[in-house]
Amino acid sequence: MSGVASASPSVPGFGGLAAPRPVCPLVGSLAPEARAALRRAVEGAGRAERPRRVGRCAQELVRQGLRPDPAFLSASGPGYRQFLVHVDREADLSVEWLVWGPGQSTPIHDHRCWCVAVVAEGAEAETRYSVTRAVRRSELHAVGAAVREAGGLAVLVPPSDIHQVSNPTDGLAASLHVYGTDISRVGTSIERVYDPLDIA
Ligand SMILES: [Fe+2]
Repeated sequence: MSGVASASPSVPGFGGLAAPRPVCPLVGSLAPEARAALRRAVEGAGRAERPRRVGRCAQELVRQGLRPDPAFLSASGPGYRQFLVHVDREADLSVEWLVWGPGQSTPIHDHRCWCVAVVAEGAEAETRYSVTRAVRRSELHAVGAAVREAGGLAVLVPPSDIHQVSNPTDGLAASLHVYGTDISRVGTSIERVYDPLDIA
């Protein structure tokens, strides 16, 4: 967890603790083969190895054809949507499908756990940020940007994990996310939301 994430949310410019987004719980709907593959990816792996190993596994699952339920793609809403399809408490993993309509975006945020994301439909744009702290406010600096097409992998490990993701296309985008925590218990992977006015 970053130093900023532990700062008081009442300090201007430090952003706020994340309110859990609505997550549609469909635990149990991930294919058994995919559950088993993810379990194998973490077995025998140290904590530091898990994000990369799970990322490669998720990428392979998408390459082999794992896709969100069509009902996820037809659902509509004012923001991006999250579908929790699997929790493995023993392995400390959760799996979600995230679906974005054209132009939809996450806030700038960081995470309470490691996470990996593989684009399965459309494309996703990501900007990563670093943060510097001043006495009364923080300052965000863009440190990288990428557009990922289907099969593209992102790995995020706190504390270097501040980013914003959006759908830059005119169609739907969907990605497979695996988190190193029990999302059904903690409610959200987001630790802190940052104010875009703090972008330097
Ligand atoms: Fe994120």
